[in-house]
Amino acid sequence: MSAAVATLAVIGGTGMDRWPSLKPERELTLDTDYGAPSAPLLLGRVQGVPVLFLARHGRAHELAPHRINYRANLKALANCGVHTVIAISAVGGIARWLAPGSLCVPSDLVDYTWGRAHSFYSGGGAQAPDRGLRHIEFTEPYAARVRRELLRAASTRDMDVTDGGVMGVTQGPRLETAAEIRRLQRDGCDMVGMTGMPEAALAAELGMEYACLALSVNWAAGLADGPIHDQIDTVLARCMARADAILAAALPALRAQDARRDGD
Ligand code: HPA
Repeated sequence: MSAAVATLAVIGGTGMDRWPSLKPERELTLDTDYGAPSAPLLLGRVQGVPVLFLARHGRAHELAPHRINYRANLKALANCGVHTVIAISAVGGIARWLAPGSLCVPSDLVDYTWGRAHSFYSGGGAQAPDRGLRHIEFTEPYAARVRRELLRAASTRDMDVTDGGVMGVTQGPRLETAAEIRRLQRDGCDMVGMTGMPEAALAAELGMEYACLALSVNWAAGLADGPIHDQIDTVLARCMARADAILAAALPALRAQDARRDGD
């Protein structure tokens, strides 16, 4: 695809296989050098802003975190002209300030995943059709501008969203043991999710500005009594409504910045 379809994209995670606020105008079934993305991209408008939506786990939530084709997802968005990506991710809260129902915009991450195709720069050959070898800088995995707009959007809606926090990204699909969570705590992680990597790094390799809105939907393993899934089911819908309101407030500002940059 050559002409830009949209500059902004939202990748929806658990609880957001659909985005009710987006009225899709087009559905793009795409293929890339790395295969097909998790689902067709949906193009629509939110608050009048053109935006692409991708269901990270597939439309029927059928893809486990380690089976997601992250490279195809990011490449498909890039091929449509996207350079700003907001990732919505359900996480387990580890820090005391990230109780279930809380939202935050993480500032850093620790990657515990393994065996995922985590780079476009694997040194060429069939696994990396269009790239050689490069070591991108990843000191700050999340884009400051996108983080700022998410936080500004939350404050315009009077929503308490924490600025910062470290995301530990585990392999899944199982949840963690209590000892694994204690280890993440010692490592400085404030929250735990399963899909933040390699997504963030691939976006960086493609030169995209990427940030995450993290929704705490449970206390991480060992930090609360009772089955974790009971917590998730009750909290997820409430978090999603707040994420939706933040997106609606953030997108016009992000689009205006993109338009100034692109001169349109
Ligand atoms: N662990 C990992 N990923 C998650 C969790 C969790 O507790 N909750 C939501 N996503």
